[in-house]
Amino acid sequence: MHIIKTIDSLYKKIQFFKKKQKKIGLVPTMGNLHKGHIKLILLAKKYADIVIVSIFVNPIQFDSALDLKKYPQTFLEDCLILKKEKIDILFAPDISEVYPDGIKMHTYIDVPKLSKTIEGKSRPGHFTGVTTIIGKLFNLIQPHFSFFGEKDYQQLLIVKTLVKELNYPINIISVPTVRLENGLAFSSRNKHLNDLEFKKAPFLYKIIKKTINIIIQNNGKKIYEIICSSKISLRKKGFLVDIFDVYNSETLDVFSKKSKNNIILASVWLGKTRLIDNEKFILLN
Ligand code: PAF
Repeated sequence: MHIIKTIDSLYKKIQFFKKKQKKIGLVPTMGNLHKGHIKLILLAKKYADIVIVSIFVNPIQFDSALDLKKYPQTFLEDCLILKKEKIDILFAPDISEVYPDGIKMHTYIDVPKLSKTIEGKSRPGHFTGVTTIIGKLFNLIQPHFSFFGEKDYQQLLIVKTLVKELNYPINIISVPTVRLENGLAFSSRNKHLNDLEFKKAPFLYKIIKKTINIIIQNNGKKIYEIICSSKISLRKKGFLVDIFDVYNSETLDVFSKKSKNNIILASVWLGKTRLIDNEKFILLN
């Protein structure tokens, strides 16, 4: 595995691979790698000849300086994991390499409608930070494939839209959420949970699944009532609910009776940790 820190050396490597007509797969990460990331890497190995993983804790996608400071950075452990997975290149630039003129730039990439709704309402600027760094990575690496987890569902849709509308010749491959046996989705933020919170956290996915079952059975209850009672159950367990609602899984518009493909998107606080999760479902009218 080559560890590359500068854009210059990255370019040289990319040119070399392109000349050899190698298919490149990119797995963008912010480090603190877990089983969810490993699943992305394993899939990347199936699709591509060359697998590049980037580790970059992107300051412009954090809505608070404290959140950025708290973000777990485990570079040495991450390197060991990536070596074991036999990836080809780890691109781990410093902030000054990515934002040479500082993080207040003149140019950003934005997918306005999808970025300002749901999670984007609670975290203003977050998705613009994500699309800007993803656009930069796509320009630098020019991958044929890039891999994103379904746990960050809104991010995934936004990246797919960016690629489609800005004509990036890149295949975005979405990868199902990896969970512990108790249903808790793998996330770098799980590290912030204390023992009690860690025991409570799987309840989020349980209640998402339960809500979907009730909606599908549809014994006369309105969606709004079902969602309200799920939120109450979450609160009783000690979650502070920010987002818990049903959306159209293709457009992220609020639920309407006509929509067949749906998703529950949830963002909750457990103590000082923000957890997000989701589950798709189909409603046949
Ligand atoms: O999902 C993440 O880890 C980040 O948002 C990403 C896609 C690596 C961009 O910084």
